[in-house]
Amino acid sequence: MVEAFTAGLLCAAGLATPAHAFPAHAAPAQTPAASAVPALADGLALTPPMGFNNWNSTHCGADFNETMVKGIADLFVTKGLKEAGYQYVNLDDCWALPHRDADGKLVPDPARFPNGIKAVADYVHSKGLKLGIYTSAGTKTCNSAGFPGALGHEYSDAQQFADWGVDYLKYDNCNNQGVDAKQRYTTMRDALKAASRKTGRPIVYSICEWGENKPWEWAADVGHLWRTTGDISDNWGSMLSILKQNLPLAPYAGPGRWNDPDMLEVGNGGMTDTEYRSHFSLWSVMAAPLLIGTDLRKASQVTFGILDNKEVIAVDQDPLGKQGTVVSATGGRWVIAKEMKDGSRAVALFNESGAAQRIATSAAAVGLPDAPAYTLRDLWQHRSYNTAGTVAATVPAHGTVLLRISADPHWAANPPATELGLDGSPLLEAAAPTPLTSTVTDLGRTPARGVSVSLTGPEGWTVRPASGTTATGLATGRSLRTAWSVTAPAGTPTGSYGLTLQAHYRSPAGQRVTSTLPLTASVVVRPPAGTSYLSDLNWLSATSGWGPVERDTSNGESAAGDGHPITIGGTVYAKGLGVHAPSDISFYTGKSCRKVTADVGVDDEKGTKGTVAFEIWADGTKVASTGVLTNAMPAQPVSADVTGAQVIRLVVTDGGDGNDSDHADWANATLTC
Ligand code: GLA
Repeated sequence: MVEAFTAGLLCAAGLATPAHAFPAHAAPAQTPAASAVPALADGLALTPPMGFNNWNSTHCGADFNETMVKGIADLFVTKGLKEAGYQYVNLDDCWALPHRDADGKLVPDPARFPNGIKAVADYVHSKGLKLGIYTSAGTKTCNSAGFPGALGHEYSDAQQFADWGVDYLKYDNCNNQGVDAKQRYTTMRDALKAASRKTGRPIVYSICEWGENKPWEWAADVGHLWRTTGDISDNWGSMLSILKQNLPLAPYAGPGRWNDPDMLEVGNGGMTDTEYRSHFSLWSVMAAPLLIGTDLRKASQVTFGILDNKEVIAVDQDPLGKQGTVVSATGGRWVIAKEMKDGSRAVALFNESGAAQRIATSAAAVGLPDAPAYTLRDLWQHRSYNTAGTVAATVPAHGTVLLRISADPHWAANPPATELGLDGSPLLEAAAPTPLTSTVTDLGRTPARGVSVSLTGPEGWTVRPASGTTATGLATGRSLRTAWSVTAPAGTPTGSYGLTLQAHYRSPAGQRVTSTLPLTASVVVRPPAGTSYLSDLNWLSATSGWGPVERDTSNGESAAGDGHPITIGGTVYAKGLGVHAPSDISFYTGKSCRKVTADVGVDDEKGTKGTVAFEIWADGTKVASTGVLTNAMPAQPVSADVTGAQVIRLVVTDGGDGNDSDHADWANATLTC
């Protein structure tokens, strides 16, 4: 018998409270020391739990029933997910009837679970899997139908779960009657402990109080994992915001004590496959629980391919149990490194921004010892290379290159890594030949031989090399640079188009490598002559710390169109751009414009809060900046000479104090061409 929750409790009093926040776009100065509250010494969840939970795909819909749960268990086996490590099949809210029976017992909804929960548990167990259930540390669960919660019924409900054969409890926070969280969650811990003593079946305990009471500081000896944020939803902004909240909590994670940034949305349709690969890579590098949140009965091959990538799962499940930490994060270029038990590092090169960017780091920066060369494994390509120490890639918009790098003495068995890049901005006016330069750089310790490069565009485009496309050999750090002339046919509509850069080469031992970089070119038009409001023009790219950039309203923090009239110091403006720091909006000006003007400031909608700084950039040069502005200040006029710029950027930074309440307005922003 495995005995659950046998550890004596240690007191956390007197421990220093670690810092756990840093500005979204800056690296933490220093990793804070973890809280010394010990994990539950019950041998459970020594690696982050893996499994399924129906919530993200069904909520309380009719699809959530015995047939679904059994179907998922079947697919875990037949699709190899069980073999990949997925184990728990978890039921979320709405499995019960709204009222307890005459004995105060919970009653499974007979429409969803006609044979009760024990029958489902038996089925799941017969597949060699485990069953999870849900209730709330309150009088009712979160659903408005008012299903019973366990507050005041902890021992009886825990016993009922244990009797059914439940292996995992997610314990939510709704309707908690203001009772102290630590007390509520600890009572259930003790109830589960008592119940599983009787049945001999240990129960993983998942605390779901949304990070409200900083459970990372006190819950290591209460539960095995704790939600750190509010609920995830199936969109890029939600995933990104949760990532940024969960990353700084790395010091608190370890075997049996995990930060839980919520369940996976992979496969639910609200993000692109590139974004889902980032989501899965980032959750793995953060040693997050991997709870599949899509209905696998309807999932595509691409979804299965993401969820059962065993090399990525191995990052998540590494027995050392470290959560990855931020090595650097500027301009949306994130380097996150996770120390692995074998001494290697898993390294995510994550591009938060809306355009491809080069993201670079080094073996030393991610914490590897000095060595002549390293083995670099690409965990999505499933290929190994050698590197002399530089780790760099052009990462597509919203994409992640996930690597595992080791100071492995057998590095020379692998071909050299190469970095592909394209200089010059892939911005084209239709019918105008545009010069671009590609580079293929040897990052390896060994030379790349017989190098050739190609660039291809969409059908109908002309792509011609204007210099050599081959090199007999490239030594460490050397590049093959090739000039290209690219023309989109006359009449090509504005928008994004795919270009593909490809390099072929051989290692000294004759191994052949083909390296492919998908790129995006934008077909653009020049802004009209005269003075235009920037909010009436198309931008090239736009990012905002919360919610999208808004035209002619302030930033409402979440959905498009949720802002208010732009208001600074009591003055209302009909035109302008509303953003939340950190923000970066770029416009194509095609060397034909001269001036940008605006009245800038912090929007009044946040009362006295918010401090930001505004900058205008002309290509790589900052041509105007305001310094830090507060909500108490009236609008400040800014004006910048942008003569000769190909692209201009309107940038808002957080003023150096984090981006809380940083609603920034570019009121009456104009461009004169
Ligand atoms: C809360 C939780 C979610 C989900 C729902 C169910 O919102 O945070 O994960 O369990 O309740 O009602």
